[in-house]
Amino acid sequence: MNKKEITSLLLNLASTKKLDIAGTDAGFYTSLALRIVDIHDLYSQLYAEHPAYEENFKKLIEVLISVHQSRAESLKKRDESKAENWFLSNELAGMSLYVDRFCGKLKNLPGKLDYLNDLGVNLLHLMPIFASPEGESDGGYAVSDFRKVDEKFGTIQDLRKVQSSLGKRGMYLMLDIVLNHTSHRHAWAEKAKAGDKAYQDYFYFFEYSTLPEQYEQSMPEVFPEAAPGNFTWVPECKKWVMTVFHNYQWDLNYSNPRVLVEMLDNVLFSANLGVDVLRIDAPAFLWKQLGTSCQNLPQAHTILQLIKKCVEIAAPGMALLGEAIVAPAAIMKYFGEGRYQAEECDFAYNATQMALRWDALATGQTSVMRAAQPVLARKPIGTSWINYTRCHDDIGLGYDDYMIQQGGYDPYPHRQYLKEYYAGQFPGSPARGALFSVNEKTQDARISGTLASLCGLEKAIEENDDAQVEISIRKILMMQGSSFFFGGLPMLFYGDEAAYLNDYSYQDDPGKSYDNRWMHRPIIDWKKNALVKKSGTLENRVFSGIRKLLSIRKNLPVVADFGNITWLPGRNIHIAGFLRYSEEKKLYCLFNYSQDSAYLTWYAFKEHGEVPVKLYDLWQEKYHDVGSDDEYLVFEPYEFYLMEVVE
Ligand code: GLC
Repeated sequence: MNKKEITSLLLNLASTKKLDIAGTDAGFYTSLALRIVDIHDLYSQLYAEHPAYEENFKKLIEVLISVHQSRAESLKKRDESKAENWFLSNELAGMSLYVDRFCGKLKNLPGKLDYLNDLGVNLLHLMPIFASPEGESDGGYAVSDFRKVDEKFGTIQDLRKVQSSLGKRGMYLMLDIVLNHTSHRHAWAEKAKAGDKAYQDYFYFFEYSTLPEQYEQSMPEVFPEAAPGNFTWVPECKKWVMTVFHNYQWDLNYSNPRVLVEMLDNVLFSANLGVDVLRIDAPAFLWKQLGTSCQNLPQAHTILQLIKKCVEIAAPGMALLGEAIVAPAAIMKYFGEGRYQAEECDFAYNATQMALRWDALATGQTSVMRAAQPVLARKPIGTSWINYTRCHDDIGLGYDDYMIQQGGYDPYPHRQYLKEYYAGQFPGSPARGALFSVNEKTQDARISGTLASLCGLEKAIEENDDAQVEISIRKILMMQGSSFFFGGLPMLFYGDEAAYLNDYSYQDDPGKSYDNRWMHRPIIDWKKNALVKKSGTLENRVFSGIRKLLSIRKNLPVVADFGNITWLPGRNIHIAGFLRYSEEKKLYCLFNYSQDSAYLTWYAFKEHGEVPVKLYDLWQEKYHDVGSDDEYLVFEPYEFYLMEVVE
């Protein structure tokens, strides 16, 4: 289609769909007209050769129009009221939680908002809440209906009520869209099993094992222990289907444009529920090609760029988060490159920095972390990180070997050490975690465990060791502090604010026992959480520390994510230090990852513009005079400072 044909298609559809292009729909129509050529261009890059190319392009525009027409007026107003780049603000702080494990049902959630607001959280990431078969659910990431709330959480009306309660408090909602796969119980999969060819084309079906075997040669395994291989035999139709994750999660076939349009419709359905941030699950896997790893392929980016354009038209207030947990340089590409720089995902998980903080905590040294900063600094202005210390998933040591080498270590034994340290296998390690998805062939593994258990609290409590309890709390707060001030949206994981330890009860549940990530997905005991208010309890010390950090952050526009971060030269290998700056303000953020005291020359404060005379540490509420170059700022083990320049 050429430009003229596209414009005339647009006008035609506008008239059949009764858009008021000179009146109430003028803004929408202009936005659509402005972007349609780009959308067509992206779409053609994927489907120019496909026989159903034109028919599905028309459907795509129809979807945009009908989503706009059914978008609630209140949401349209909310779109308008949001500043451009609203999501870069220092005033946002999020928490991810499982509704059932946090408070049972959706309808109980509004009653918990005071607790969350008290902590300083104003954005809620509800872990997957759409229908997902019990026992074959992957924590909700195997979706059997993208439009039905799973009964165990309540109904779609309950979800709408949650959204409106959040809105009234000025809070934000984040939900997932599982774009890469469906449950094998999704209607499309059921039809495919029954032999419907059109629906088999929604997935990757193979009659013989020959092609799957060829694919396997270059495709890594995501869950080598629980779900080895990338294909599953479907006895109902006697064919193989691609299943990169668990065998009950069937990969959608995006080389079929109908799949793209249907899933775009589902994306926008979520948008119309009032979602502020949409977490796109596993985008790295969206496109498959024989002979490749089937991860991070250019077409996966094209799909995301196309979705982003469509969201800008139909739900402009919704930001997109790409959950790409891949190598550092590959993550950066999800912000968009070249012409699409800052026009793909608004957010990505800062999985690199997250894992590197765990690296630094285990080694007491920040050299590997430093080696990664040049890559992370390439994040385009206008995009942002989700900064986190723990989430529902495992910790993968996915940063590059060269970073480890530059940090002064051998990659293989270094990773081995980190895994043993966090699995509590290394002699003297205070951590209590477990290895997740051990790959016997490559010896690869990731790490499970709660923040508190990985920081040594579980062991310290068990051994009645008060000194170690003290150290664990320091570590917990230092890990959180170094995440909150980095630049990006801090995302807590529920339970961590009240120092939850690993929960081993998943081992008795056959639907979960094969997946030790459940050890760090606690069931909230509100009696325990009530202790956050009781002075001196562990829960209280961790909760109030986090609350204080979040409140400091909220009052500091300089930590909004405008690319205004500079790493301080490494004057002490144990200390990670960066400067957040604006024209009016300078904030030095300094973290000691060592179990021993550490010393930082005052010269470190004199290398960036005007030399400060006096600093104020917002964390410990103390003034410090900047000393001479041969004097030091002293750090206790795991101590940190958030120093603003006052003179
Ligand atoms: C994402 C989710 C993870 C899930 C996987 C498959 O990585 O975070 O929990 O297992 O996708 O959907």
